[in-house]
Amino acid sequence: MITLDADDRLICLRAGEAADDHHGAVLPPISQASLYRKRTMKELLDGLSREHSANVYSRGTNPTVKVLEDTLAKLERAEACKCFGSGMGAVSAVLFGLLKAGDHVLFLNDIYGPTLELAARLEDFGVSWSHTYARDIDAITAEMRDTTRLVYMESPGSMLFRLLPIAQVCAMAKARGAITVIDNTVATPLLQKPLAFGADLAIHSCSKYIGGHSDVIGGAVMGSRELIERLFYKSYMLLGSVMAPLDAFLLLRGLMTLPDRMLRHHEDALAIANFLQDHPRIGGIHHPAFCNEDAALFKKQMLGASGLFSVALKDTSYDETLAIADRLTLFGRAVSWGGAESLVICGHKADPAGRATRLPATLLRFSIGLEGADNLIADLEQALS
Ligand SMILES: Cc1ncc(COP(=O)(O)O)c(C=O)c1O
Repeated sequence: MITLDADDRLICLRAGEAADDHHGAVLPPISQASLYRKRTMKELLDGLSREHSANVYSRGTNPTVKVLEDTLAKLERAEACKCFGSGMGAVSAVLFGLLKAGDHVLFLNDIYGPTLELAARLEDFGVSWSHTYARDIDAITAEMRDTTRLVYMESPGSMLFRLLPIAQVCAMAKARGAITVIDNTVATPLLQKPLAFGADLAIHSCSKYIGGHSDVIGGAVMGSRELIERLFYKSYMLLGSVMAPLDAFLLLRGLMTLPDRMLRHHEDALAIANFLQDHPRIGGIHHPAFCNEDAALFKKQMLGASGLFSVALKDTSYDETLAIADRLTLFGRAVSWGGAESLVICGHKADPAGRATRLPATLLRFSIGLEGADNLIADLEQALS
C-alpha cells in the first residue's frame, strides 16, 4: 500500500474553498461571464496592465478557473499555474511561448504522439528539434546542441512507461541554459513532483486523472511565477486555448476524489499486472514497478505508478492481439485514460508522421479503472483463453 503526501489530500479536498466565501458554498460558483465590468476607467486600465492577475476578460483570467489554478499550483509545489482548454493547448503554449527561430528543442523518452507532431510544425517557424530514447545522462548530454533552449521529457513515458533520471537531466540542462519541461500527466502531481527534482515547468492533460470522469478536456502548466507570466502574455492570450469555467468546476470536483482514486488505480493495476506477468500468453509487462532497470528511479521519483501499464503478447499476431482486446467485456476500446472505466488500446504501428514506432506489434495498453481487480482479472482471463 502506498502513502500519499498528507498535505495533498487536504489540498484536493479543500480545492473548492475559494478565498471569497461565496456564502459558504463548498464549491466555488461557476463564473459564467466573458467579461468583468470595472467601476472606473482607471480601474479597467489598471486591470489591463496586469491581465494575468485581474479579471478583465475570460480569455485571460476567470475566477472559477483561478481557483483551480491555485489548487494545482499547490499540488505541484509551484508558484503559479495556468490552465488551458486541453493538454495540447498547454503543450502548444509552452513550445510557442518559449521558443523562437534558431532555437532547438530536445525531446526525451516516449513522447505523446501529437506533441512530436507539433514539434514538426515548429520547423515551419525556424525551430529545430530532435528526439532520443537515451536514458543515460552522458548519452542525453551528447544530444544537446549549442542552440538547445528547451529539454522536453515524459517520465513515465507514454505507452511503455519507462523513467528518466529527472534530477540529472534538469541539472545538466540548467547548466547549459536550457529550460526543462516535463509532461507529468501519467503520474499526476500526487505521485511525482518533478519541480522538486529541478524541472522548470510541469505540464498536465487534466483530461485524464485530474478530471477522472471522462467528461472534461483541459490542460495545465505549473512553474515559477515568472515563467507562467511569460507564457500568459507570449502564448496563452494569443493562442486562445482557454479553459471554460464549467470545466474548471468539474475538475475541482474531480480533485476531491483524486487521492483515493489514485490509490485504487495504483493498487488494482499492480494486482492485475502481477496476474498477467505469470500468464503464458504474456511476453512482457511495461509498468514502472516491473522494470528492473528503472527500479532505483521509481523508488526515488515516484510514490506510486498510477493505473496505466501495457503488455506485449507472446507468440501472437497483430490480428489476434486485436481479437483479444475485442473479447474483453469490462474494458472499453477507446483512446485516452484516467477515468473510472477501464480501457484498452493497441499500440500504434506508426507515429503521426507515418514513421514506424518502436512499440511491439502485440502491445495492449490498459487503463485500469475502478471496477475492482478481481472482476478485471476474470475478464482478462476469459479474453486470453
Ligand atoms: C501524456 C499526454 N500528454 C498530453 C496529452 C494531451 O492532452 P489533451 O488530450 O487533453 O489535449 C495526452 C493525451 O492523451 C497525453 O497522454
